[in-house]
Amino acid sequence: MPTIALLPGDGIGPEVAAAAVQVLDAVADDLTYDEHLAGGAAIDAHGTALTDEALAACQASAAVLLGALGGPKWDTNESGAVRPEQGLFRLRAELGLYANLRPFRPLPALYDASPLKRELIEGVDLLVVRELTGGLYYGERGTSDGRAYDTMVYTVAEIERIARTGFQAAKSRVTSVDKANVLDTSRLWRSVVTRIHSEEFPHIELEHLLVDAAAMRLVAAPRHFEVIVTENMFGDILSDEASMLTGSLGMLPSASLGGDGPGLFEPVHGTAPDIAGQGIANPLAAILSFEMALRWSLGRADLADRLYAAVDRALAEGARTPDIGGALTTAQMGDAVLAQL
Ligand code: IPM
Ligand code: MG
Repeated sequence: MPTIALLPGDGIGPEVAAAAVQVLDAVADDLTYDEHLAGGAAIDAHGTALTDEALAACQASAAVLLGALGGPKWDTNESGAVRPEQGLFRLRAELGLYANLRPFRPLPALYDASPLKRELIEGVDLLVVRELTGGLYYGERGTSDGRAYDTMVYTVAEIERIARTGFQAAKSRVTSVDKANVLDTSRLWRSVVTRIHSEEFPHIELEHLLVDAAAMRLVAAPRHFEVIVTENMFGDILSDEASMLTGSLGMLPSASLGGDGPGLFEPVHGTAPDIAGQGIANPLAAILSFEMALRWSLGRADLADRLYAAVDRALAEGARTPDIGGALTTAQMGDAVLAQL
């Protein structure tokens, strides 16, 4: 009986997590859930964004499912303050989750929900592979005497392993995104990715793009891309940009993998303080994150396929939360998926 560590988090996190657990229960009835506070909720209760106990529960689980962390209550611009996001950074680092996979596959039923023209996004099937435990997020930083700094560091080994993840995920083409005309880390990145390509994946086409050009091409010709592999912060930015190909952040799941232990599965969206508490958040990103957990951590691709098909059918029959132009509540959207199962 696999145990799922459940971290609903803050804002709409608990709302979408509840709807998703209901759906997951219907797909796989042999799962148990071990629920813990994380983010702002954990700061309020324990003074830290992720307790040792919650971390241990995650380490002992088969997969970690997270809602979303953060909110205005805990926002601070003070250097060194306790912040909800630290829970996420601790999980990513302690579980060794160096590879963040974010698939962007606009569903035909939602082509018109994207701000981009339908003929641009039709047939887009893009995976962003974001390095998740290095770069600016984990480098040394500080503020003193009217001066602040953040450092970006990458080692050959860190680049090699994320490059492999990218090539393994690709059928025909990998686009490696860097800023090699400016940054030393990017020049190292480019040379390591090129070597891994020629040594291990010569059958895959590799192209290098500078991040600014990649940002432009992503909206000008999104079908150009199959797999984008890039460092932590470029991946953070490009994946929010790519989310608009699908019309709503409310649709997008992600998987963070790489360690020997469990993976972490979470919506790409945040806690949406503007709609938190109203019960109208789109639970599909959370539900599809569970779908990725079934596929990537629990070895149940068969169930993942069933779940994906159920989401697709619910949308095709017109089920819509407000973010994608409808009026269903979070619970009703969950029910619409359940009905298809
Ligand atoms: C993400 C989020 C986080 C990140 C934030 C909440 C710190 O934007 O997962 O993309 O930047 O990694
Ligand atoms: Mg982000």
